[in-house]
Amino acid sequence: MTIERDHQEKRNTMTDTYRLANRSVRRIGYGAMQLPGPGVLGPPRDPAQALRVLRRAVELGVDHIDTAQFYGPDVSNTLIREALHPYPDDLAIVSKVGARRDDKGGWVPAQTPAELRADVEQNLRSLRTERLTAVNLRRLDDRNLGPDAQVPLEEQLAEMVSLRDEGKIAGIGLSTVSVHQLAEAVRITEIVCVQNPFSLIDRHDTEVLEWCAEAGIAYVPYFPLGSAFPDRPKVAEHPIVRRIAARLGVTPSQVGLAWLLARGPNVLLIPGTSSIAHLEENLRASEVVLSAEDQAELDRIC
Ligand SMILES: NC(=O)c1ccc[n+]([C@@H]2O[C@H](COP(=O)([O-])OP(=O)(O)OC[C@H]3O[C@@H](n4cnc5c(N)ncnc54)[C@H](OP(=O)(O)O)[C@@H]3O)[C@@H](O)[C@H]2O)c1
Repeated sequence: MTIERDHQEKRNTMTDTYRLANRSVRRIGYGAMQLPGPGVLGPPRDPAQALRVLRRAVELGVDHIDTAQFYGPDVSNTLIREALHPYPDDLAIVSKVGARRDDKGGWVPAQTPAELRADVEQNLRSLRTERLTAVNLRRLDDRNLGPDAQVPLEEQLAEMVSLRDEGKIAGIGLSTVSVHQLAEAVRITEIVCVQNPFSLIDRHDTEVLEWCAEAGIAYVPYFPLGSAFPDRPKVAEHPIVRRIAARLGVTPSQVGLAWLLARGPNVLLIPGTSSIAHLEENLRASEVVLSAEDQAELDRIC
């Protein structure tokens, strides 16, 4: 393959798709966690702007939106419904269950099978839809949350399978899982996607990403830009990312997203933003061409 053709193919990523449950979605979607107020709590500072971001996303071809009932809580789902219902036929809405918010905004486990079911049903009601394209079972093993978070995966998946059999979800996903949990899960049922933290500057999850690629499972990295949480490093602030972006005449965020897209065809992006300018910029990351030298330099970051 000539370098020119190689580049041409890489440029077309926004038209590239990957299987997600019962459909194919574009490689770059949208994460709705930045729509509520600070700390993912309460209404947006500018609700009309939040609605515009969602409508612009769909207008620009986004066909995969990631959300959760506990974003706000209730805020992201309500905004999605207000902005986009009745939904375009090709729009995949993916949610996640396994947590709720307490009255101070803390993240509390809601991991029992009954809680998972109640959360899926609440998502269906708030989004006003009969079926979600996928629902990620969001495990909370990594936190010191006590016995409420310690529900066997097998019991949880049995409930998720019932929800799928009832037609309430088209596919089952997992979030924040180890490679061992993923292997255990696929022995029990089909898993259509995995949503774990991964970015140019945080590659702890490389083994799960590779496992998914091998198994043909969509891998959906969260915190692809380093998140909005102030204590986490930001992809766009890394000096090498900034230098390569300046050389290419693109933004550092676009370099970070383009690097993720190049990890493999099963990587689906859901960068989160409350800004139309950032949304447009993120979607154009599919046009960024990283040379072999750029890739090698970025690979060496960590
Ligand atoms: N499964 C899980 O447990 C889990 C956990 C976290 C997130 N998620 C999902 O993953 C999605 C992505 O993660 P995330 O939203 O937490 O973090 P992220 O996408 O890594 O980063 C979001 C932050 O980056 C900023 N940003 C976005 N685009 C930008 C750009 N082009 N230039 C400069 N800054 C930019 C946003 O600010 P602005 O609003 O100002 O653009 C926001 O502060 C979420 O929206 C959510 O749907 C899932």
